Amino acid sequence: MATSNTPTKKRDTWGSKLGFVMAAAGSAVGLGNIWKFPYTAGESGGGAFVAIYLVFVIFIGFSVMLTEFAIGRRAAVSAASAFKSTDRRWTFVGVIGVVSGLLIMGFYPVVGGWSIAYIFKVSTGLLNTPEAIGDSFGGFISNPVQPLMWMGLYLLLNVFIVVKGISGGIEKAGKILMPLLFAILILVAVKGLSLPGASAGLEFLFKPDFSKVDSSVVLAAMGQAFFSLSLGMGCMMTYGSYLKKKENLVQTTAMVTAMDTGVAILAGVAMFPAMFAFNMEPSAGPGLVFVVVPQLFAEMGGLIGLMLALLFFVGLSVAALTSSVSLLEVVVSYLIDEKGMKRRTAVISSSIFMAMLCVFSSLSLGGVGPTLFDTGAFDIFDLLTDKIFLAVGGMLICIFAGWRLNRSDLEKEITNDGEISFPLFGLWYNLVKFVIPAAIAIVAFTGIKAGFDSGKGEIMLIGVGIIGIAALLSKKL
Ligand code: PFF
Repeated sequence: MATSNTPTKKRDTWGSKLGFVMAAAGSAVGLGNIWKFPYTAGESGGGAFVAIYLVFVIFIGFSVMLTEFAIGRRAAVSAASAFKSTDRRWTFVGVIGVVSGLLIMGFYPVVGGWSIAYIFKVSTGLLNTPEAIGDSFGGFISNPVQPLMWMGLYLLLNVFIVVKGISGGIEKAGKILMPLLFAILILVAVKGLSLPGASAGLEFLFKPDFSKVDSSVVLAAMGQAFFSLSLGMGCMMTYGSYLKKKENLVQTTAMVTAMDTGVAILAGVAMFPAMFAFNMEPSAGPGLVFVVVPQLFAEMGGLIGLMLALLFFVGLSVAALTSSVSLLEVVVSYLIDEKGMKRRTAVISSSIFMAMLCVFSSLSLGGVGPTLFDTGAFDIFDLLTDKIFLAVGGMLICIFAGWRLNRSDLEKEITNDGEISFPLFGLWYNLVKFVIPAAIAIVAFTGIKAGFDSGKGEIMLIGVGIIGIAALLSKKL
């Protein structure tokens, strides 16, 4: 991460900081921003969801990310070991993070596989029949075999990158392709906005109608903030452990948060105006990006539309890879540090397990396979992680920082021993110690309660139970 052989001290600091920001942003910006954010906003009523999401990002996301960076840099070891070395009773928080990583990797590669498949589909004529794009997506994801092959390919790419330890290479690809993806998103947004009837989409996205808000929308917005910023499972803590002492944690956190949120909002602007123009339902669900974006490119037509569509899905696949590699790494570094496994064994065994979970997830979208409370595997893994494990994990990380660590140690860590001024330290500390844990507990509690109406409450409650059991077993973990 650091480039200590650069000639001047100033350039050195800047260079390594940018490298770190890009790595952390690589983890944060992924399918969560471009695939999940728009469809969740669409299903949750639009503007009000977006407004609540932004409040969570600013007050909770920013503070939790700063906390994770600070704990990680202070401990300089992977997340589970960081908790364990401070207090064994807290080991379970790290372990829950590892379980979250496993479960997210139980559906993320399925969608990553779709993204790679779309590179292929676009190049073999998908855009030629715009009216069939929607049905083609529905047919594709409910096919029992095809998506599994793409998922396998996607997972293999992850294995290859993490076994070889060449995440540096993928980060480099990300450095070029992510700005490119950003630029394409801007183009898509401009195209979408130019269509007749597009302004209704902007209104849907930015004009909050709070009468549509209930506790499940608030929980969805909170979960989305954690998922999108890669928080609550020790991922950013692990990244923080590689950070140099002299770097400015507050500034870094602000940059990563701003980039991540910018991409999510841009993805929304790229999709909703076009959807309204095409008379599609905003609650179209997980297929949104795979249907709206190709339709827009088909509308553009010609070679330009084709090239941009190709670049879009290449960019999306790389953005997904830089995120899933960080998820896999959380699991792998735990197996290496705590279970004494070799890197290769750790990567291969965890990805075989992930592949099995992904098979269930993928099949569940075609209505095949076991269900729990009428919910298929894909939705179960998503519900457990995004709505419960990440948010409750974030809550526990805050409680750990606020009540188990020293205020003055945290202040020293965040201000680099007083070299950097952080006038909002007191506010941050009180947020982390009191406000955030209470807010998460309330949102999770009311969200779970509301979830019973739609049959999701039971599953979320099981998630809470798993955390409880892990806490009781903590000393054995
Ligand atoms: N933040 C990633 C995304 O938005 O796609 C997903 C993710 C990565 C979640 C790493 C959690 C994590 F630890």
